[in-house]
Amino acid sequence: MNALKPPLFTVILVGLFIWSGEVVARVSGGSVGPLGEGVTVENGEQLFWGPGKCSTCHAVGPLGSSVRGPNLGGADGRIEIALRAAERADERSADLGKEMRPTEYLVESIADPGAYVVEGFKNEMPKVYEPPISLVPDQVASVILYLQSIGGAPDPSLITLPPEIREAARRGTGVVAWEPYLDGDSLRGRDLFFDPEGSAACAKCHTVGDQGGSVGPELTSVAGTRTARFIVTSIVQPSQEIASGYETYLLQTTDGRLLDGVLSGETEDSLWLTTADGEVMALAQSEVARRLEQEVSLMPGNLSDVLTVTELHDLLAFLRTLR
Ligand code: HEC
Ligand code: HEC
Repeated sequence: MNALKPPLFTVILVGLFIWSGEVVARVSGGSVGPLGEGVTVENGEQLFWGPGKCSTCHAVGPLGSSVRGPNLGGADGRIEIALRAAERADERSADLGKEMRPTEYLVESIADPGAYVVEGFKNEMPKVYEPPISLVPDQVASVILYLQSIGGAPDPSLITLPPEIREAARRGTGVVAWEPYLDGDSLRGRDLFFDPEGSAACAKCHTVGDQGGSVGPELTSVAGTRTARFIVTSIVQPSQEIASGYETYLLQTTDGRLLDGVLSGETEDSLWLTTADGEVMALAQSEVARRLEQEVSLMPGNLSDVLTVTELHDLLAFLRTLR
């Protein structure tokens, strides 16, 4: 009929999620006054490597191995974050036309991660003071102290948190959580995820725990950093936000072949392309005539047609157990 018709199922589904999502506000247990006594570098370090989830995206020098966000230590040709913050603050000062101090840059990178997006990365750092991470103001301040200590001297008197961080804590952690409108069955969801012959077959491309493929990002703790709404959108509209490092490339070889996949490694002489069926192809750079970054995800775009509403809720129920 009409090729431009919006995918109705998707619209209804996402709409229902949004509509049914409001959950009664709960008062958070965290301090919302001036910085409290629990604000220490040690607490910040524990939060960074634990419940703050920073280490799921950031390494610090040789510690950790996550690459979705920049290394915050002196590594990958970068200086330590406390020193780097001074350079970034100079750059921001010039942009904003008013002086920004290094600690203000650190605060901004958490309060409003999209205000300055580090070159080579995407604007995909979550607001860690909102669900599902929901750090309270003292915890945010501790994490900032820890960042100050990486290459510099921690000084709590330089930290001023903007009102949105205090307001998020006052609203409580439940306010902006989106809830599915059917109870899914997480065990059936797990089977669907791992069944290679099933309609979803997610594990062909994603690892959970020690099982699965590596075409797409590992999902072992996806619900720890992503809301239900983000997860649903990733499944039904995968191209809306493409995870860094997992962009699709179309390569044209000098002998005229067209190949598409995710670039899984690259050196001066070679590159490796992982195709949608998980095959890793090694190519010499000299064989690649052209490379084009695509705006579509390598993840199938038709899952909302292939999966039933019940299956989608089952999958979501399973994914939400992954923290
Ligand atoms: C889901 C992944 C993710 C999580 C979780 C995450 N970050 Fe980030 N972070 C990023 C990405 C991607 C960037 C680069 C893009 C940008 O600048 O917004 C970034 C940028 C930063 C920067 C700026 C670095 C620079 O070179 O200027 C700082 C500082 C930072 N994050 C700290 C943190 C802290 C502290 C936490 C935990 C409380 C955290 N991040 C959690 C992905 C993440
Ligand atoms: C053909 C391989 C493939 C299959 C099959 C696949 N995915 Fe993906 N998935 C990807 C790729 C590649 C990405 C990264 C690009 C993007 O963000 O769209 C991704 C991204 C995601 C993300 C976002 C993760 C993040 O942190 O941003 C989620 C969630 C996800 N997939 C869930 C699923 C689920 C659930 C299934 C099964 C119903 C599935 N995927 C099937 C390849 C696949």
